[in-house]
Amino acid sequence: MAKVKVCYLNVFECHLFPLTTLLNENDQSLEIYQTKVGSVGSWCWESAICLAEYCYDHMFNEFRQKCIVEIGSGTGVVGLQLCALGGNVTMTDREEYVELINYNIKKNEHVLTGKAQAKTLFWGDDIDEHDECFQNVNYIIVANCVYHSIELDELIKTICNLCAGNSSTRLLCCYEIRNDGIRKLVDEFHEKLIERKFIIEFVDQKDFREKYRNDYNTIVKCRRME
Ligand SMILES: C[S@@+](CC[C@H](N)C(=O)[O-])C[C@H]1O[C@@H](n2cnc3c(N)ncnc32)[C@H](O)[C@@H]1O
Repeated sequence: MAKVKVCYLNVFECHLFPLTTLLNENDQSLEIYQTKVGSVGSWCWESAICLAEYCYDHMFNEFRQKCIVEIGSGTGVVGLQLCALGGNVTMTDREEYVELINYNIKKNEHVLTGKAQAKTLFWGDDIDEHDECFQNVNYIIVANCVYHSIELDELIKTICNLCAGNSSTRLLCCYEIRNDGIRKLVDEFHEKLIERKFIIEFVDQKDFREKYRNDYNTIVKCRRME
């Protein structure tokens, strides 16, 4: 059988395997395809699934018709969950992931109740001010984007550009704090957010599904001071 190329990362359909635990408003499953090859965005990170399920369990009605931008989406796992709850979601990443996100959008079209699209957005690059999906953003999603090789200042710049002039934008982040290096980076990320007038609230682990309650999964909700 001919192999179908679905991704810029030289990923073939035979390498893709699905994760089917996520749900939409009618309790239909979403199927998120991941790859065994590629890099850190090619598979769903545990705390991203924890965040997606937290949103389903505790923020079920908060995303309907909201303008949502996810940065560093990878497979699109969190963005697709929010789109299944009625959000209009733009999932962004480096150019090489756009095809994988589009693949996952297509596979889940029948269970998405909001609008979903994938775009290239490299952190630190200017945002197209005329692009409607980057205007009046209600939620910015940042799942597992704080890790060793990234440029924190570029990440912060993109977050601030997305909520420029809009104090009602909410930021949802999750991390897997598996070692002291990541802890230090996450602390630094939070300090930089606080310098830019963000208020950070840690979500209590008792609100996570049981299997995610451990010493590394972390979710924070942030908002900007008026
Ligand atoms: C650890 S993965 C997390 C993927 C997904 N959010 C999840 O939690 O399953 C980090 C993601 O950030 C993206 N990323 C890293 N540096 C980036 C940059 N400078 N601009 C845009 N995306 C970037 C990577 O391509 C990758 O998809």
